[in-house]
Amino acid sequence: MKDVDNVTITIYRYTAGLENKPGYETYKVPVKGKMTILQALQYIYEEIDPTLGFRQYCCGVQYCNSCRMLVDGHPVHTCIKVIEKEEYTLEPLKGYEIIKDLIVDWDKKIG
Ligand code: FES
Repeated sequence: MKDVDNVTITIYRYTAGLENKPGYETYKVPVKGKMTILQALQYIYEEIDPTLGFRQYCCGVQYCNSCRMLVDGHPVHTCIKVIEKEEYTLEPLKGYEIIKDLIVDWDKKIG
């Protein structure tokens, strides 16, 4: 596994109900030790952008599924996905209505 000092994370942004078009925003995060993608999201929320939407009530052990999202196009539990490269793109899981950014409505399947 490769150690990285910083990671650049590009995140899908959209808020249902507002007249905004989906887009992407990019953040740079300092990597501390074995940092997970979910921990990087928490850093972005606390230190850079409190408007970022992602599920924060999390088990951290791949049980609750609340942290699942697309990482570089693949469904991933971000609570256990350790950062090991310098760039990632995060998007909400496909097949569900988007509530905000990376948060989908598990009760509203689409497609
Ligand atoms: S936080 Fe529960 S599965 Fe990742």
